[in-house]
Amino acid sequence: MTTTTAPKTYRVKSFGCQMNVYDGDRMGELLTEQGLTAAAEGDDADLVVLNTCHIREKAAEKVYSDIGRLKREDGSAPLIAVAGCVAQAEGEEIMKRAPSVKMVVGPQAYHRLPDMLARANNGERVTDTDMPAETKFDALPKRRRSGTSAFLTVQEGCDKFCTYCVVPYTRGAEISRPYGDLIEEAKRLVDAGAREITLLGQNVNAWTGENAKGQTVGLEGLIREMDALPDLARIRYTTSHPNDMAQGLIDAHGDVGKLMPYLHLPVQSGSDRILRLMNRSHSVESYLAVLDRVRAVRPDIAISGDFIVGFPGESEQDFADTLKIIDQVGYAAAFSFKYSPRPGTPAATMDEQISAEVMDERLKRLQALMIEKQVAFNAASVGKVTDVLVEKRGRQPGQWLGKSPWLQSVHFEGDFAVGDLVRVELVQAGPNSLAGKLI
Ligand code: SAH
Ligand code: SF4
Ligand code: F3S
Repeated sequence: MTTTTAPKTYRVKSFGCQMNVYDGDRMGELLTEQGLTAAAEGDDADLVVLNTCHIREKAAEKVYSDIGRLKREDGSAPLIAVAGCVAQAEGEEIMKRAPSVKMVVGPQAYHRLPDMLARANNGERVTDTDMPAETKFDALPKRRRSGTSAFLTVQEGCDKFCTYCVVPYTRGAEISRPYGDLIEEAKRLVDAGAREITLLGQNVNAWTGENAKGQTVGLEGLIREMDALPDLARIRYTTSHPNDMAQGLIDAHGDVGKLMPYLHLPVQSGSDRILRLMNRSHSVESYLAVLDRVRAVRPDIAISGDFIVGFPGESEQDFADTLKIIDQVGYAAAFSFKYSPRPGTPAATMDEQISAEVMDERLKRLQALMIEKQVAFNAASVGKVTDVLVEKRGRQPGQWLGKSPWLQSVHFEGDFAVGDLVRVELVQAGPNSLAGKLI
């Protein structure tokens, strides 16, 4: 085995959910602590970390094509590490199929990257997909950098085992990070410039912990404590499961000023028969009842969701029921996916897999309806006077982009800085953004 020159620059490319993006940031911080620097935009990096997602087929395939394309300008290959959920699920396979990959590291083991890197620099190929008892969070460096809007993983893993989903296998069992650690991390993020924090978890509303008084609290306990951080302006959380929407959290939507009126609450299907096959453990009715309770305390709340079309056995009637719930709820936004059979999940071997043509056709119909709903939601916002959190400059000179409380993109003109909260009137709406006028 040859000794390679130690990498000096790195790039982390994240392909997955927001928690995967959070992990990517943390890996970057870890590498920075090791003396590496982030490669500048457009420059080649000595070390490339592909932080992968396994949720749907294309995600994994993309990894292999990316590995193949990672050549540097001088023709040499960077040191390649594959991290994230594909690494967890297919670590061995990757090592076999892609000899250029020198490190494979799972989502619960990436705090061990420095040690792995030292071994890779000695010419070894290293795999670590353990789910160690020690938590990675304790071993990661303190947060020192943040953008205006920051992610904070509070909960990880999933015990729900929906029959289509790989997350319980790639991320492991549900764990809640301790209250004190999270408040400390939140404070550091705010000190580093965060004005908005989004609390993350595969089942974020299943978070539970012990507050400073020794009381057991749910996610609302964290939210209420963070509400008291003076320089923090906004709190969000995602993704929630309908069955974990406790009354305490719902109440927080009614009286915590910094908690934004937005709830991502996936239902996946509008058919009880399909929900049962999916092992979702809620019905259409119980889902709608949760929304009623949330809207009772916060009538203007924006609801978004995830939908899977073409789950095995989905009939035209089941699909029609999905369209019906979309119509009924009036979603502000939604993510919709064609069902993708994932190896090792129960749904992958169910009878009546749906053809690609039928899935394509259903997805098109669903998305057409969703756009209608999104347009309607945005149009209904015109005339509102609201705060917008400034995020970046727009394409036109003098133009800025930011987010409304309902997570809509808003563009407006004026003289601001990133992180400002500005008061605007929403004057015009399109499907994906709104125009605002300064008050
Ligand atoms: N924990 C979250 C989200 C997990 S993954 C939740 O339960 O809502 C994000 C979304 O990907 C899911 O909500 C689902 O809509 C979609 N998804 C997960 N597995 C999938 C699969 N095998 N095929 C297609 N979409 C899938
Ligand atoms: Fe996957 Fe279901 Fe868990 Fe969400 S709740 S992560 S969809 S198993
Ligand atoms: Fe993908 Fe893993 Fe997130 S599979 S969606 S990166 S938890």
